[in-house]
Amino acid sequence: MIERITIENFKSLKKVDICLGALNLFIGTNASGKSNFFDALRLLQGIGNGFTVSEILDGKPKSATSEVWDGIRGGTAKACFANGASGGDITISVSGKRADRSWQSWEYVISFSAAEGRVTGEKLKVGHNIFDSAPVTKNLPADPVFEVRYFGGAQGKPPHLKFERSRPVLGQFAKGNGKWKKGDAELAQEVATLLANTQRVDPHPSELRNYSQAHQIQRMGEHGENFAALVKTLCQDAKAKDAYLTWLRQLRPAEVEDVGTLSGAVGEPLFMLKEGGKEFPAPVLSDGTLRFAAIAAAFFQPDMPGIMTIEEIENGIHASRVRLLMELLRSRAKTGKPQIMATTHSPIVLAWLKEPEYRTTFFCKRDESTGESKICPLHEIPHFAEVVKKQPISDLFAEGWLEAAI
Ligand SMILES: Nc1ncnc2c1ncn2[C@@H]1O[C@H](COP(=O)(O)OP(=O)(O)OP(=O)(O)O)[C@@H](O)[C@H]1O
Ligand SMILES: [Mg+2]
Repeated sequence: MIERITIENFKSLKKVDICLGALNLFIGTNASGKSNFFDALRLLQGIGNGFTVSEILDGKPKSATSEVWDGIRGGTAKACFANGASGGDITISVSGKRADRSWQSWEYVISFSAAEGRVTGEKLKVGHNIFDSAPVTKNLPADPVFEVRYFGGAQGKPPHLKFERSRPVLGQFAKGNGKWKKGDAELAQEVATLLANTQRVDPHPSELRNYSQAHQIQRMGEHGENFAALVKTLCQDAKAKDAYLTWLRQLRPAEVEDVGTLSGAVGEPLFMLKEGGKEFPAPVLSDGTLRFAAIAAAFFQPDMPGIMTIEEIENGIHASRVRLLMELLRSRAKTGKPQIMATTHSPIVLAWLKEPEYRTTFFCKRDESTGESKICPLHEIPHFAEVVKKQPISDLFAEGWLEAAI
């Protein structure tokens, strides 16, 4: 889990420093910077995948080792704050506790020039310092080689290691090489995997209505590709199916009797709900039902991502059922995996927040004069705690109080 993230000079996020929890909600008007924050997480995913700086930003075709990568909205040209007008590199730092050794912390920092597609600074600590470019003074901007100081060497002067500069060191270091300890390469891989293991859940009803190409799958695609295959997989585990069905029944009480899949000509699965003794295949189910079913299924994937991002959770779901979705996110966040990041425009979601959740509910606002986005947890907004006792938070949101308070 990422416990703290700082972002500098990336898109509208000139300077952001926030502490994250298991369930994180991002609210704010259009163009306030919510998706830009998600883009920063995507950037980290690209780093974890071992891509070059240019590939991360501008995209990459499918290869033997990776799927198609879309890049970041706007690509290289729009990556820096104010499109680079103010100069400077983009810096992102992330830290947290190790999954199975929570007494040990990890920290990863990267700086890079988007325009030149080069890394300009990088540091990794997992329990102990592993590498850091800061002590290296001879890293010249035009040099295709990037040096970092490795702390795990023999006693005496720490050795300098050389890496390809167009690509973050993290992935290169994780691959291992006789020049550094295997154990340190494994620690770098642990962080790379954590960053890479992000799933964007943005199910499109048109995709959910399709037959799946796969017959069994451990994780569905971003837009719900192979959704039916995932449902088929999870229905084979009686406990998982039962839990999944319980959520679906709450969405449409008294109607949904069973969930499963129908088979196409060559056995390819199609999502199906059973209502009133009849089977209703995905093509006839409503958009909202399918979207909810896909988001719920994502939380029962056998291959669970470390981080899940969901934009506009309430999209297509009736106001009276948004609460159910919130409960689903809450209950899954309690299990610790995945760490959830969701955006919402719905004041209803805010009305159901519990006080401890104010710490990880972030209000995003873009300053009109500077174009800079601020991301502030509700509990840090001045006087928020007093005001919210007198007036529902949803009113504060709708009336623009939050906007004015930051
Ligand atoms: N390089 C940049 N420098 C400064 N601002 C930028 C940069 N790139 C994008 N922006 C601004 O960020 C805004 C978009 O922010 P973002 O996509 O995060 O909005 P959002 O909060 O997700 O909104 P919505 O709720 O509509 O999806 C754009 O209006 C754009 O002006
Ligand atoms: Mg957005």
